[in-house]
Amino acid sequence: MNRTCDPLLRRQLLYPLSYGGVYLSILSGWNGLVGLIGSCFAREPGLGGGSRSIEVRSVIMSSQTISPSEISKGQNEKIPKVMNVVRIDEFGGPEVVHVAEAPVPEQGPGELLVKIQAASVNPVDYKIRSGKYPAVQGDKLPYTLGRDLAGVVVACVPGETGFSIGEDVYAYVGIERGCYGEFVVVKDSEACRKPSSIEYTVAAGVPLAGITAWQGLFRHGGLQSGQTVLIHGGSGGVGHLAVQFAKAKGAKVITTVSTKNVEFAQGLGADQVIDYKIEKFEEVVDGVDLVFDLIGGETQDRSWAVLKAGGVLVCTVQEPSQEQAKSHGVRAMRYTAEPSGPELCEIAALIDRGLVIPHISKLFFLREAASAIKLVESGNSRGKVVLTVP
Ligand SMILES: NC(=O)c1ccc[n+]([C@@H]2O[C@H](COP(=O)([O-])OP(=O)(O)OC[C@H]3O[C@@H](n4cnc5c(N)ncnc54)[C@H](OP(=O)(O)O)[C@@H]3O)[C@@H](O)[C@H]2O)c1
Repeated sequence: MNRTCDPLLRRQLLYPLSYGGVYLSILSGWNGLVGLIGSCFAREPGLGGGSRSIEVRSVIMSSQTISPSEISKGQNEKIPKVMNVVRIDEFGGPEVVHVAEAPVPEQGPGELLVKIQAASVNPVDYKIRSGKYPAVQGDKLPYTLGRDLAGVVVACVPGETGFSIGEDVYAYVGIERGCYGEFVVVKDSEACRKPSSIEYTVAAGVPLAGITAWQGLFRHGGLQSGQTVLIHGGSGGVGHLAVQFAKAKGAKVITTVSTKNVEFAQGLGADQVIDYKIEKFEEVVDGVDLVFDLIGGETQDRSWAVLKAGGVLVCTVQEPSQEQAKSHGVRAMRYTAEPSGPELCEIAALIDRGLVIPHISKLFFLREAASAIKLVESGNSRGKVVLTVP
């Protein structure tokens, strides 16, 4: 397996005394420890490897092997008919998540067939698995999980999309398609070229969480340079990217995290980090332009007081009270993130300029998806959890 790590994690490995506790929380065993440390140093430029080493491996299919040169030549006839996917046939706990065979989909006009190299885990995966996600009801079963990916275009009609066979892409796809498999069809409008400075395993952590953060802060929250944003949940998949996007925009960033993530959030560049386990944010913050709420519940109830008149509360998890918004003289909304290739390209530019560093806390194999989803469901992951696809 090609394991990788992002620069933040690499820094953690290089400074074991200051991050001593990180190893046990990130790594599941000695194999993982050796593999992950090895990958961090093997791919560190100047330390014996190139960051694109993952791209020159052979792509192992369920029925045959396609070499990267065959992919770049677009030998579509080498694409197998059947692939492995991770899906659910019924709603329930981790036990309903299993590996199954499914036909390799065919791309239509304006679509790409992508060979998936890595896919990420998002809270929506356990919400769908447990039957609590309104857009996926019983009529959608069996359902292949997974909403975002990084991979290689293996089929498309030349000139019909903005992409060519052999290009690296990353994407957040529509709810009717699943990325926990070997191939997925991606609409031209959903994809962007993968940031060239990061590997598939890191890029896969970005699309859904990144687009959610981008749309929440800028499309719905209207965040401007010089404004102040309070981000609830700054250590999670969406939050850790939101903190960095807002800083890159020139905003003042305040974020709430638990005690174990205070140093992590400071490392992301937040101007003020509030440990919600020991401090009430509403006692130390006010005059905020935007509250980006990734938590809801009583966190949201206590957030109205910190907004300045004319401010905005944007939430990913629950519909905010319009009565409360009116009485505080602010605007408030919940939204569902929409796939967007152009926004992914804006994010890719920030990553390639080194202004945003996605944090991947743990890698799993595709077949371990049930455990990976369980980890995210536990609320104990930091940044993103990613599945590698053999
Ligand atoms: N509407 C949409 O389109 C959309 C899109 C993406 C995500 N979402 C939703 O948005 C939420 C966040 O997504 P995510 O991917 O970032 O989840 P995540 O990776 O699981 O992160 C959530 C983080 O929240 C932190 N947290 C828990 N309680 C908190 C509190 N009281 N105050 C501050 N932080 C707290 C936890 O970190 P600590 O250990 O530091 O507490 C956890 O890491 C999920 O509910 C998800 O379903 C919605």
